[in-house]
Amino acid sequence: LPWTNPSTWSSTSEGARVEAVPGGELLEPEVLRSQDGVLRVDLVAEARVTEVAGRRAQVLTYNGTLPGQTWQVRPGDRLEVRLRNELDTATNMHTHGLVVSPQGNGDNPFISIAPGESFDYRIDLPEDHPTGVFWYHPHRHGTVADQLFGGLYGAIIVTGDEVPVSRDRSLIVSDISLTTDGTIAPVSAQEVMMGREGDLVLVNGQHKPRLAARPGERERWRVINACTSRYLRLAQPGQDLELLGVDGGHEPAPRAVDEVLLAPGNRADLLVTMRNGTSELRTLGYDRGGMGMMGAGMSGPVTLATLAVTGQDTGTTRPVPERTADPDLRERPVDRRREIAFTMTMGGAMMGPGGMGEMMDLGFDGRAFAADRVDQQVAAGAVEEWTITNPTPMDHPFHLHVWPMQLIETDREPVLEPTWRDVVNVPTQGQVRVLVDFSRHPGRSVYHCHILDHEDAGMMATVETG
Ligand code: C2O
Ligand code: CU
Repeated sequence: LPWTNPSTWSSTSEGARVEAVPGGELLEPEVLRSQDGVLRVDLVAEARVTEVAGRRAQVLTYNGTLPGQTWQVRPGDRLEVRLRNELDTATNMHTHGLVVSPQGNGDNPFISIAPGESFDYRIDLPEDHPTGVFWYHPHRHGTVADQLFGGLYGAIIVTGDEVPVSRDRSLIVSDISLTTDGTIAPVSAQEVMMGREGDLVLVNGQHKPRLAARPGERERWRVINACTSRYLRLAQPGQDLELLGVDGGHEPAPRAVDEVLLAPGNRADLLVTMRNGTSELRTLGYDRGGMGMMGAGMSGPVTLATLAVTGQDTGTTRPVPERTADPDLRERPVDRRREIAFTMTMGGAMMGPGGMGEMMDLGFDGRAFAADRVDQQVAAGAVEEWTITNPTPMDHPFHLHVWPMQLIETDREPVLEPTWRDVVNVPTQGQVRVLVDFSRHPGRSVYHCHILDHEDAGMMATVETG
């Protein structure tokens, strides 16, 4: 795949793009719940004309909607998903963040489902699976970014030990660019290079939806960053936000926060205790670095939704029960240490739409993804310490499938509380250190940059254990 020095290329893609029609009550995807320990889903991936941001648009959908249905399961449940591919490109499915087997019909990223074909996934959650918010999306190397940007994503909620609230909401944040004829805007070379960000930021497929609540009510918001490249710095000035957890990790007690940074792929579990007034759920700007190009790596500030809290205080806020602390992998000996580096290396010169550019190869440790090469061979049952460095000029979110990561150091600052993540942002010129628990689920899977244009370009590698 050609990666070129973008300074020689024009920065916008062709074709006029549309503005969205804002407003509308926030809608939530249909929730499918497991029964007797099993959730069976017939899942069809297909292009559809539907309404996005108040306009008719031809997008990609799971079962006809954007986002797809929400799957609600409990630890110990089994997910049986028959995925039928009605797209015109190959696809597959990844249950992002679930700690489940990567083999066979499990969360296997090496499956490729051709157009017109289907595949039966069977995914068994262990009895002690963490609760929280996870998600499903395509993972066929080479088509991931296009398929997510087109609209293929949905929430998975693992329930069990929640804080009691007056209302649960799932907010799936994504972005998309549409042309005036309602098709998905083509991506420019620079957008691919930097990781594309859509013109329209959507919450559950809606543009700037409205939320209403009454004072004193307490809600749980499960926010998923399903954008292919955009970083979200979530803030809700005027309301009290408390963080319950990120990804599959839990705070020991709700922690008051002004903002939460969600790299692509991250999720936040938030408590919002409603106070009178009208406010906005926003993402603040985040500079993710940009090859020396002005603004190229900027995830700009955007209003995601408006919140109106009116009426008499309901007084329904209940105390937060104590919860068992997350396990601490530091109590186990480290079997092996390794270093892994994001790399962007200059290759030869090549021609692009705007003239000559220099080719750039994306990968880890100087190599682009190869499905049949094992990049990290891990001993069965090991605990490993991985140092992930980023010598490149932009941030990259590091995502490891299947095996949970405990963050122990970010930019040479130790992390003291047990902090579990499945996506960890590695800032430009920075490093993070994690412990990885390989004690279960032997098999082969991948780690990759969750800027999905980077993943498709080769910033992915394999890990095998067992
Ligand atoms: Cu959410 Cu391997 O991806
Ligand atoms: Cu990246």
